[in-house]
Amino acid sequence: MNERFISIEGIARRYPAPGGGTTTIFEDLWLAVARGEFVCVIGHSGCGKTSVLNILAGLEAPSEGVVVVDGQAIEGPSLDRAVIFQGHALLPWRSVIGNVGYAVSSRWRKASRAEIEERAKRFIDLVGLKGNELKKPAELSGGMRQRVGIARALSIEPKIMLMDEPFSALDALTRGTLQDEVRRICTSTGQTVFMITHDVDEAIYLADKIVLMTNGPQAMIAEVVENPLPKDRARDTIHREGDYYAVRNHLVDFLVARSKTFRDEMPAGYDQRKPPLVRPAGSLPVEPAAPERPVAKTIPFPSVAGGRD
Ligand SMILES: Nc1ncnc2c1ncn2[C@@H]1O[C@H](COP(=O)(O)OP(=O)(O)O)[C@@H](O)[C@H]1O
Ligand SMILES: [Mg+2]
Repeated sequence: MNERFISIEGIARRYPAPGGGTTTIFEDLWLAVARGEFVCVIGHSGCGKTSVLNILAGLEAPSEGVVVVDGQAIEGPSLDRAVIFQGHALLPWRSVIGNVGYAVSSRWRKASRAEIEERAKRFIDLVGLKGNELKKPAELSGGMRQRVGIARALSIEPKIMLMDEPFSALDALTRGTLQDEVRRICTSTGQTVFMITHDVDEAIYLADKIVLMTNGPQAMIAEVVENPLPKDRARDTIHREGDYYAVRNHLVDFLVARSKTFRDEMPAGYDQRKPPLVRPAGSLPVEPAAPERPVAKTIPFPSVAGGRD
């Protein structure tokens, strides 16, 4: 068991502040992710989530600290780490198979054309795009383009998959379908995933662990929430799971209140190197109580015999 497959060690991001000095977006961030874990990061806009992801991707260097993946410090982009952005970032002049094939050929430079096509097709099928291989990105819907992005990321067998709000630009129905597919693929292949979202329900459905970031500037990791729901949860029955409301309320409470106040009300002895692991458990009703049925009033029938009177 490799508990530190991804090890974020004391990273900070600072920018020159307008008018001199520096602004610290976040600092002293520590986090460990195990191999095969699906981790979601939740936090308000501006707290530095994309910056953390870019550092993991090797697209940006941290101002301080280091990130180690599978025993190697990140020093730049690598095909070991695939990124799925909010926008799909496809090559507009290449077809679906051209886009996926390009990634495959960058990974396996000596592969034959037939091998590349075969592999690209396999991943295009996997995300449900069979029959669309020759279309250009402009001919696809937003959801289909994002599927190409997912196929491209998976096709290179990355050690980790990094996703920055990958479904936020999609309509609810497409978002749901793609969440289902990403979950199915990642659980069946044991893919390690680091995903940013601001959607609480998305995090509960997908993640094994949910990292809570406080508001920026000087954002920090407040805690890591262990998802108490069973691994075989399903979208249409998830709200009936015993701990569903407990975990959902915990996340919503964090976003509406604690994300703002955490830094000022930090528990004594809080150690940023070891953010606490929290497992919300429910004492709340699993289902809302059934509405009370109107009870038919029984009106006493006057006694024919007129007994009492
Ligand atoms: N190149 C930059 N120069 C100055 N500030 C930046 C730069 N890039 C990002 N920031 C600031 O860093 C903060 C965090 O940005 P970002 O990582 O995109 O946050 P998030 O993804 O959580 O919304 C924001 O306040 C943003 O304005
Ligand atoms: Mg962002």
